[in-house]
Amino acid sequence: MQETGNPPNASALAGEIQPAVGFSGLGRMGLPLAQRLVESGVPVVAYDRTRGKAEALASSGARWAATPRDLAKSIGKGVTFLMLTDGKAVQSVLFGRSGYARAAPPGGLVVNMSTVDPEESRDFSARLRDRGIHYVDAPVSGSVDQVVRGDVVFFLGGEESEVARTRPLLERMGRKAEPMGPVGAGNATKLVNNLLTIGITALSTEALALADGLHLDRAHVIEVLLEGGGRSAMLERKGPNFLARKYLAQFTTALARKDLKLVEKAAAREGRPLKMTREARKLVDEAMALGHSEDDFSSVFEATLARSRSGGSMPTVTGSAVPGGPTPSGNPPR
Ligand SMILES: NC(=O)c1ccc[n+]([C@@H]2O[C@H](COP(=O)([O-])OP(=O)(O)OC[C@H]3O[C@@H](n4cnc5c(N)ncnc54)[C@H](OP(=O)(O)O)[C@@H]3O)[C@@H](O)[C@H]2O)c1
Repeated sequence: MQETGNPPNASALAGEIQPAVGFSGLGRMGLPLAQRLVESGVPVVAYDRTRGKAEALASSGARWAATPRDLAKSIGKGVTFLMLTDGKAVQSVLFGRSGYARAAPPGGLVVNMSTVDPEESRDFSARLRDRGIHYVDAPVSGSVDQVVRGDVVFFLGGEESEVARTRPLLERMGRKAEPMGPVGAGNATKLVNNLLTIGITALSTEALALADGLHLDRAHVIEVLLEGGGRSAMLERKGPNFLARKYLAQFTTALARKDLKLVEKAAAREGRPLKMTREARKLVDEAMALGHSEDDFSSVFEATLARSRSGGSMPTVTGSAVPGGPTPSGNPPR
């Protein structure tokens, strides 16, 4: 595995003249990604719908823009990154009333790191191309702690020349930026990736519930599984959450559900049945019904435990808490 760590700092880049880049979406992932750019000496102009978040980044040296349109004016033909919830948010930032496309000149480049449907990416790309603006999809594999360590991977979709323009900047934020094909191919790869990461996490919770039923010690089981054939990156990363039954959000259950719906939609479009994925999505739905939407998606463990308590059938839950349910995650309401 390639070494990761701190981004190259400004002094390491002495002599390079860095054009400013734009960054829209300073949420859980966007803020640390933008911070890595700033810390590596790249001038950043940031926009967030919630102004305080852009101001928070401004304190580490970035400039901020009041609207995506103002951001486009500052960046001109430069690169603008998006790290937004979903396709609807991207639509609003690019094409809304104060959107980026209202002021961006031909020659600009939008790099969309948000997880969206490949079809949405192709649509955004076509609409921007009409204005002479380029588009690359660059969704991210890895979560908040991995961004901080510079350990994420980007899956890229776009024309070779634009992908080449994008990679040096992405490599300041993560470990690898891998071209996967034309526009949409990055998003397609991300859907395949998330089918696995969410699916494996869901299956891990069933394995642990069975371990409970077989009177095994949960901590000991996780420890020994990580030494054997049951090992997975997700069990390793989420094991501490399963033990503590605390789910401080890195990737929320609501986003996991959004992604599984994108996976199911793409699979239906292409005629690929995904039965196990459907089961994982049902579990995610149950975790949301138990009030875990804004918790980390590893809170699907609570849905699995609730199934075990009810002997296999999930009771209908309308409130945010169930008797004997989860310990508080500590996530602030959003
Ligand atoms: N969290 C992860 O581990 C992870 C990992 C890989 C990929 N992803 C993907 O990365 C993307 C961002 O995830 P996140 O965890 O950073 O989410 P998040 O913390 O909820 O941040 C979402 C960002 O989108 C902005 N936004 C939402 N709707 C908007 C709208 N209509 N107009 C303008 N801005 C809008 C939010 O603005 P406000 O600040 O105003 O709310 C915020 O900046 C998602 O597509 C997610 O699936 C997440």
